[in-house]
Amino acid sequence: MGKTLLVTGGAGFIGVNFCNYWLNRYPNDQIIALDILSYAGNRHSLEQAEKNDRFQFVTGDILDQALVEKLLREHKVDDIVHFAAESHVDRSITGPDLFLETNIIGTHSLLKAARQVWLTEQTEERHRFHHVSTDEVYGSLTADDPAFTETTTYQPNSPYSASKASSDHMVRAYHHTYGLDVTTSNCSNNYGPFHFPEKLIPLCIINILSGKPLPIYGDGQQIRDWLYVEDHCRGIDLVLTSGRAGETYNIGGNNEKANIDLVKSLCSLVDARFADEPALKQRFPDAPASNNQPSDTLITYVTDRPGHDRRYAVDASKAFKELGYEPAETFEKGLGKTLDWYLANENWWRTVLDGSYRDWIDEQYGS
Ligand code: NAD
Ligand code: DAU
Repeated sequence: MGKTLLVTGGAGFIGVNFCNYWLNRYPNDQIIALDILSYAGNRHSLEQAEKNDRFQFVTGDILDQALVEKLLREHKVDDIVHFAAESHVDRSITGPDLFLETNIIGTHSLLKAARQVWLTEQTEERHRFHHVSTDEVYGSLTADDPAFTETTTYQPNSPYSASKASSDHMVRAYHHTYGLDVTTSNCSNNYGPFHFPEKLIPLCIINILSGKPLPIYGDGQQIRDWLYVEDHCRGIDLVLTSGRAGETYNIGGNNEKANIDLVKSLCSLVDARFADEPALKQRFPDAPASNNQPSDTLITYVTDRPGHDRRYAVDASKAFKELGYEPAETFEKGLGKTLDWYLANENWWRTVLDGSYRDWIDEQYGS
């Protein structure tokens, strides 16, 4: 018999990819996806998962402890994989309150539910709470600093990363104080299908296709460590199934890129696709490549993000040594697959941008 997972934030970027990954990888397992369907949560993205009778979607809030307890009991949930969060740094700068509410109080509410059902009521069974966190909790590196390890001091710099750091501490505390079986993974920047178009890579893909400016914050020399989302899902799988209780594991791409170099690579990739496929010019007449211009003419330097972290780099050697984790996708191939996904799923991003995917969800599932 397979396991049942409760996946919070299952309608967000990584949550959707994780549900698809897990349903394929473990044909006997069930998934209950819990998501409040915030602006970033899109049930339309779960179309593939919803076709599977081992998948069930529940619209709800991780802050609703009674609902989570009910789900844990009724579905005899084995493990929780906790993605639900407010995830965008820029939004945390303009409106930090929701980040504290969702990321800190929301995580604590889930921990309370898990403690009640798993430690008080179902004392015979083995359960795990896996918390999905970020490399941003470690703060910013200079060019010469070694990459973040699991023992790097937490120095979060944005309201987003401070809220994730707080949630990491609560997860740790529930293990040490109450004996809850927990693991945490701290991952670098993901990219791939279903990425919400406020984040750098999907924003730039869509802006190139639409002939709009590509906003580069500050000097564009900030460095991120990019990881294809499926590699993250596999890393979480390894931690969830084989990681040691109470431990944290860094997951990274071993793939540091300066923002400006990444955006220029993306521009070249789009130009090459347009050269190979002339039909793209009819579909995207405003793209520079449709008007004999290189896409990088859209690059526009704009005011920097306040408190912008300069460099992230993840040392994932603990996950490699203990769990055999290694990223499988190269950046060149991963970026190409991502671009192809956005070209093939124009309807997805157009409806996300204009909000009309919500009409589709109402038609399919009722409001
Ligand atoms: P996302 O913003 O795309 O998705 C978050 C999801 O959580 C959305 O579907 C949203 O509706 C849901 N949600 C928000 N508040 C909720 C609530 N109160 N109750 C239930 N659901 C709620 O984010 P993402 O990029 O998929 O990130 C998922 C997780 O991974 C986050 O915890 C994030 O901190 C972490 N992470 C992300 C990255 C990355 O590069 N995207 C890297 C490392 C870690
Ligand atoms: O490191 C992991 C984190 O990666 C996750 O925890 C976050 O949830 C996720 O959003 C991401 O955070 P970043 O702030 O690094 O991602 P974002 O795509 O917003 O920005 C990537 C880099 O590009 C960052 O240095 C800011 C810069 N940027 C971003 C945008 C949206 C720009 O220069 N211009 C832009 O328009």
